[in-house]
Amino acid sequence: MNRLSLYIHQSLEGFYPLSELQSLAKIVCLDLLGVDAIDFYSGKDIDLSEKKEKDLETILERLRDNEPIQYIRGNADFFGLKFNVAPGVLIPRPETEELVDLVIKENPSVKRILDIGTGSGCIAIALAKHLPLATVSAWDISDKALAIAEQNNAWLGTSVVFFRKDIFSEILNENNYDVIVSNPPYITIAEKKEMDANVLNWEPELALFVGNDDPLWFYRRIASLGLNLLSFGGRLYFEINQAYGIETSLMLTALGYRDVCVIKDLFGKDRIVKASR
Ligand SMILES: C[S@@+](CC[C@H](N)C(=O)[O-])C[C@H]1O[C@@H](n2cnc3c(N)ncnc32)[C@H](O)[C@@H]1O
Repeated sequence: MNRLSLYIHQSLEGFYPLSELQSLAKIVCLDLLGVDAIDFYSGKDIDLSEKKEKDLETILERLRDNEPIQYIRGNADFFGLKFNVAPGVLIPRPETEELVDLVIKENPSVKRILDIGTGSGCIAIALAKHLPLATVSAWDISDKALAIAEQNNAWLGTSVVFFRKDIFSEILNENNYDVIVSNPPYITIAEKKEMDANVLNWEPELALFVGNDDPLWFYRRIASLGLNLLSFGGRLYFEINQAYGIETSLMLTALGYRDVCVIKDLFGKDRIVKASR
């Protein structure tokens, strides 16, 4: 290990599990300080300029304050693409890649897609990249999220159309979409105490929590909007809280959806519910 990596390890010891320190040191050196990868891996000593030494101290301070590395870096990897992220927008998660993958595989020639609660735009933009026949629209209530989603749309060269919309406001009945996909807020207040500080202190509450502690609050509303927004035979795809697969599917069946199905993620947890209108 070179002296710089050793210093990073020592500065973060006790703040992160030992198993994470190597990958943090690598991101700090290669992505944030611009250290040459060959120098980094060769173990030779690396001299930083005075400016970079100052930058390093700022980065270490932010890491000790539990700020997610994706916010410090300003981007996150999702579905093979780099998305800009900043406090105020949820960092895209790997389980959401499984949702995107399923929608792409099951709807190769879909024409009209709506992503509800788009955040960074990761679902909408990844779908637009991989489903060239589709027109993709996306809604979010947060101006901050929409501004970042627009940046990602421009930078990744897609043409998603974003709208500021509160799904609990009045929404016109349109029968406009063949697929609706959503990863809405789904963490209950009871689950809050089990969460890590880097999520709790840094990621937006608006994106994470179901305010009134009804775990199906967003799902019920989106599903009932879907009855009017989806064309006949159109499909609804939800990312869900692993604890509520059965409840979500019963709710969809009761509303009249067909072919309701709960799908597990790579870790064997209930993670996606899909249904047809
Ligand atoms: C769990 S995040 C998902 C973000 C992104 N789709 C992803 O998968 O990373 C939920 C999103 O729903 C948005 N949201 C919360 N309440 C909303 C509402 N009433 N109407 C529309 N969007 C809302 C939040 O701003 C947030 O961006």
